[in-house]
Amino acid sequence: MNEDILLEVKNLRTYFYLDEGVVKAVDGASFSVQRGKTLAVVGESGCGKSITARSILQIVSRPGKIVDGEILFHRYTSDASGGSRVETFNITDHKPNSPEMRMFRGKDVAMIFQEPMASLSPVHTIGNQVMENFRHHFKTSKQEAREVTIEMLRKVGIAKPEERFDTYPHQLSGGMRQRAMIAMALICQPSLLIADEPTTALDVTTQAQILELMTQLQKELDMAIVVITHDLGVVAEIADDVAVMYLGEVVERAPVDELFHNPKHPYTQGLMSSIPKIEGQTRERLETIPGSVPHPYNRPTGCRFNPRCRARIENKLAICKHHEPQLLPVSNEHEVRCWLYHKPTGVDYQAISNAELLPDEAAASIAATSNVTK
Ligand SMILES: Nc1ncnc2c1ncn2[C@@H]1O[C@H](COP(=O)(O)OP(=O)(O)OP(=O)(O)O)[C@@H](O)[C@H]1O
Ligand SMILES: [Mg+2]
Repeated sequence: MNEDILLEVKNLRTYFYLDEGVVKAVDGASFSVQRGKTLAVVGESGCGKSITARSILQIVSRPGKIVDGEILFHRYTSDASGGSRVETFNITDHKPNSPEMRMFRGKDVAMIFQEPMASLSPVHTIGNQVMENFRHHFKTSKQEAREVTIEMLRKVGIAKPEERFDTYPHQLSGGMRQRAMIAMALICQPSLLIADEPTTALDVTTQAQILELMTQLQKELDMAIVVITHDLGVVAEIADDVAVMYLGEVVERAPVDELFHNPKHPYTQGLMSSIPKIEGQTRERLETIPGSVPHPYNRPTGCRFNPRCRARIENKLAICKHHEPQLLPVSNEHEVRCWLYHKPTGVDYQAISNAELLPDEAAASIAATSNVTK
């Protein structure tokens, strides 16, 4: 196994069973996170980013549950001789409220949310909340825990932490609350921090400060980060790798420079061209991806992006309507889920491309013979 990999999500499916039908919020997502590195997860609203994050911690609210896939966390543990070795914790093997999951949350993986007020208790002081998290995982005296907490509050840039220890969340500014959340998340020195839209609610200056704080603490603690964001500026600033999600699955994965310079999936290209640029004509209209994300109740067949895909229409790719492409490499470290780059073998691809509509029987025979290769 590759020792650099900390987290592997394989074919994850998390569904919500509602009276109206099944919402397939996450439906076959696969990606991995490297030790000490930052993975950005991007995609339009509703594509399953937060539910993926919640699945990793098994905090999906009812009636949602993980129905398939594996989430493997490769953590270091000390062995009998005092050395350390890698142990694989299979998250999906444990019940959400099991003692193993309760120890795992906060200690191995911590999460921060977009809105700090949603996860900070309004009736407890900042200091007590950070300290309780520490005492939940480590047996220490109250005095020692208090000292560690004050040190952590100082580290996240809260001035006069001895005094701020006793303040309540509502007495702090948005930026300070987010710092307190980061202190609470990092007090047990987790090896992975999941940050779900950590700076969306903040003004631009505070946003920059929080991102800087996260990357500085990442270096100090040698921690990996999964950052979920709509903001490609944030991605460019802090990510090493990027996973692009669409309708519950990952459609493209690459190192950040590769993704920005050489986006392959028409969806990723659409996201990129909707970023405002400073150069160029000021009157130019921003491009947007046509249509909107379909509700996960009634997902399109074939490639999930096909109804909105310009490349499908321009190239008359009928295969996109009938067959779901797989996430496959286009080069070293770059994977994409799109028929523009992968051909089913044993089939005259050109003939398919030229056919406006493929009859269902022909589609079925392609499905039977298709053994997808690069
Ligand atoms: N509690 C729930 N009950 C039913 N459906 C849900 C629930 N929570 C999320 N979903 C659905 O699951 C899908 C994925 O939601 P998710 O919150 O992961 O999206 P997201 O990518 O994080 O979007 P955003 O960028 O808006 O935060 C959405 O279609 C959403 O409506
Ligand atoms: Mg979300």
